[in-house]
Amino acid sequence: MFDLHTHILPQIDDGAASWAEAYQMLEIAAKDGINVLAATPHFLEGWFTPTPAEIKAGVERLNQYAQRQSLPIRVIPGMEVALCPDIPRLFQANRLLTLNDEGQYLLVELPANEVPIYTESLLFELQLMGITPVLAHPERNRVIANNPAWVLDQVKRGVLVQLTADSLLGRFGKNTRQISQELLRAGVVHGLGSDAHSSQHRTPTLKAATAKITELLGQEAGHRLATADNIKSNMALADIEGFFNNTCHAQAFPDEVLSYSPALCRRLLNAGQKWVKQVMGFK
Ligand SMILES: [Fe+2]
Repeated sequence: MFDLHTHILPQIDDGAASWAEAYQMLEIAAKDGINVLAATPHFLEGWFTPTPAEIKAGVERLNQYAQRQSLPIRVIPGMEVALCPDIPRLFQANRLLTLNDEGQYLLVELPANEVPIYTESLLFELQLMGITPVLAHPERNRVIANNPAWVLDQVKRGVLVQLTADSLLGRFGKNTRQISQELLRAGVVHGLGSDAHSSQHRTPTLKAATAKITELLGQEAGHRLATADNIKSNMALADIEGFFNNTCHAQAFPDEVLSYSPALCRRLLNAGQKWVKQVMGFK
């Protein structure tokens, strides 16, 4: 399984408190059947500002531990970037880290209680820069809880959605569980993340949530959302892309964007938005 959202790196945000705890989390993940785990510390100006170099060094140390202990798990670098108008500038200044440092998928976290008015234009701006935003746990946002259709609109525009495993298991309340199920049934969830913060309470595990998805939508869906089924065994950089491409459910490119101009669509394509090609049937 792929867990593409964890706060496993110690003393860098509000996640693991020590290396001992980080190692313990890695063991928990491996035992749960997770074979790729992304270390995605918070990036929130004024609070947590890890550098890509720090994160990569931490990931290296975790991989060395996994190797020493013969744990069948690989850690990749990433970041969970709190939504703010400065994201494009921060990205251009090389202060942000995309998933697996591919320059493609950026895990973006909305504030818990609002969807700022600049959100949609910011997400679109990131796409024009060739970045595919991956929304971290939109089901836990209070505004979206009252309007889950907002997520569908974003997915139509090519934004990807990552659900927190615990949301589905009811650990963030009944309402969040229900929204999670609605999003899953609507086919707009592209992956799961544990959003693990510790070895005790919020742990890096996906098995129980995968079982829940299997119960709700059948085995194929559970497998597709949580496993590396579409990914080659060497887990090369391109494999992560394959995972997203193969699990993307976007059925239609939004009319309003199509009507802007063919030039805009071509710009998106040139920016590396391969899904546009798929969805629009471009040759
Ligand atoms: Fe997180």
